Amino acid sequence: MEIIKSENLEKIYHDNGVPVHALKGINLTIDKGEFTVIAGPSGSGKTTLLNLLGALDKPTKGKVSFYGEDVYSKKRKELSRLRLSKFGFVFQAYNLIPVLTALENIEFSMMLLGIAEKQRHEKAMKLMEELGIGELADKRPNEMSGGQQQRVAVVRAIVNDPEVVFADEPTANLDSKTGANLLDLMQEMNEKKNITFIFSSHDKQVMERAKRLLILKDGLLESDE
Ligand SMILES: Nc1ncnc2c1ncn2[C@@H]1O[C@H](COP(=O)(O)OP(=O)(O)O)[C@@H](O)[C@H]1O
Ligand SMILES: [Mg+2]
Repeated sequence: MEIIKSENLEKIYHDNGVPVHALKGINLTIDKGEFTVIAGPSGSGKTTLLNLLGALDKPTKGKVSFYGEDVYSKKRKELSRLRLSKFGFVFQAYNLIPVLTALENIEFSMMLLGIAEKQRHEKAMKLMEELGIGELADKRPNEMSGGQQQRVAVVRAIVNDPEVVFADEPTANLDSKTGANLLDLMQEMNEKKNITFIFSSHDKQVMERAKRLLILKDGLLESDE
């Protein structure tokens, strides 16, 4: 079943008045439950594409749909609601809010959705324990390793039972063993909860796990297998 679709998606940035054509017309359909990696060299447009698919930015041209609905025709408020309730994000670094504990970081997006304190606390704790990071609940980011922080970030990304998780080079700052553990965690979430995962990465380890591998080159899809 189709969950996300992009049609003729283009993005032009303006860098000191100089146009940078980051995406040059991407046509892509992602089905529910996919575990897809977008690979390609640095500067090929991976982050731009993830941001556009995840409703974090606005395309210059073209369209993104979520279950057939045009994402960027939505009002700002609707768009932020869509992101909060249906999407989860894991970034390369600086993922967590430094002044909040792991538990508070995980609860944060539930708070924005107006979920009552007791309920969000219980849900966050339960999920942390389920995923083997219960002992990190009261730690702040600077008291955790990079791998631990990324695990917290993954739990935070899935706590609202999203349909899709976007992960932009999530293993880039991790050693290969820690990266493998993180991928195990995401794969488990994909298999158990049928959450769709879309990664960007040029990490071989991530590419090997992909069920579908898309290669971007100079703002265009070079291959899809
Ligand atoms: N905010 C921005 N302003 C200007 N140019 C940008 C901006 N973000 C990205 N770019 C440019 O767009 C192209 C694609 O970037 P990006 O999507 O970050 O690629 P990747 O994630 O594959 O490294 C690059 O040429 C980059 O320099
Ligand atoms: Mg990038």
